[in-house]
Amino acid sequence: MSPKFKNPRAKFNFQGRTCSITGVGSYVPEKVLTNAALEKLVDTSDEWITTRTGIKERRLAAKDEFTSDMAAKAAQRAMKMAGVTAGQIDLIIVATITPDMPFPATACFVQQKIGAKRAAAFDLEAACSGFIYGLEIGQQFIMSRTYDTVLVIGAEKLSAITDWKDRNTCVLFGDGAGAAVLQNRENSHGLLTALMGADGGKANLLFMPGGGSRCPASKDSVDARLHFLRMSGKETFKNAVQAMCSAAQEVLRRCELDITRIKCVIPHQANRRIIDAVGERLGATPEQMFINVTRYGNTSAASVAIALDEAVTSGKIQRGDLLLLIVFGAGLTWGAAVIEW
Ligand SMILES: CC(C)(COP(=O)(O)OP(=O)(O)OC[C@H]1O[C@@H](n2cnc3c(N)ncnc32)[C@H](O)[C@@H]1OP(=O)(O)O)[C@@H](O)C(=O)NCCC(=O)NCCS
Repeated sequence: MSPKFKNPRAKFNFQGRTCSITGVGSYVPEKVLTNAALEKLVDTSDEWITTRTGIKERRLAAKDEFTSDMAAKAAQRAMKMAGVTAGQIDLIIVATITPDMPFPATACFVQQKIGAKRAAAFDLEAACSGFIYGLEIGQQFIMSRTYDTVLVIGAEKLSAITDWKDRNTCVLFGDGAGAAVLQNRENSHGLLTALMGADGGKANLLFMPGGGSRCPASKDSVDARLHFLRMSGKETFKNAVQAMCSAAQEVLRRCELDITRIKCVIPHQANRRIIDAVGERLGATPEQMFINVTRYGNTSAASVAIALDEAVTSGKIQRGDLLLLIVFGAGLTWGAAVIEW
């Protein structure tokens, strides 16, 4: 392989296997909720939502359609692209803040739905940053030769924790799922490096107060609308731009890459203005930035996974291209990854 960039893992006398994404897939529910329909629910306007967020519509899961259903569909599409059977899956990681239930893990429901009987299964919770956290965790098992095939899924039914009376938040979110199959692929660097960050000191910017051990469900907690997400929009916005830029710059630095070498930047799809600010600060051209927030809103852990699938299936990314993934979410959490596709 030609030394066209630096593989940061090489400095640790890297003896493991590289980890590549051999298949991607996504699923979004059929039902579309447009800005015009939202105008009938809360005091808002298509003009306000479009100029402040870039979002035009989002998808809503059916009443009897759960996070695990969407996750399983995305997973099956990713497995098809990778050419792997359910019996080959060693591990399933589901990143979500909207599990089917507090326990057992949604990953266990997915394991049953796709028939991956051999697979270990667990959930991880890093909010909107979950997919990169999942990739970094999953690749450890491939690199160490512990497992050959790992399924990483980001899946959310955010409509279930959205306060449909709060115009500050209900216009922003949507439902969906995206998945990736991780395996070793010869002659590819795959996932070159990934960064995961967190700042629990800013947990109060974006959170759901009710339903955990601190505030179990009660009539009072329901009446006080504590089982819906809450957000300080402006502060979250500022932190998102800052954290996403520094995470992206750090992973590029590790790989000794200039932004011009990146074929496609796939940022967390929370808000068009955040994406534009990050792209501008990184010096990326509009052609490099992948954007689908217009159609899906913010789907949290599913966001970058759905975008990656769409970038691949639309032909925007070819094998050998370099990708930059950037995420940000509640926690606060953030992350970035460089991938040789
Ligand atoms: C939420 C967000 C779109 C608000 O945009 P903003 O430019 O900060 O909004 P502004 O402060 O200029 O405007 C707020 C005003 O709009 C009003 N407003 C809020 N939501 C509205 C809506 N859906 N429709 C109409 N008006 C709305 C507010 O009540 C407020 O009115 P006031 O000034 O009379 O009190 C923006 O802060 C944001 O995107 N933040 C990050 C959110 C995010 O991405 N979270 C997930 C991270 S993973």
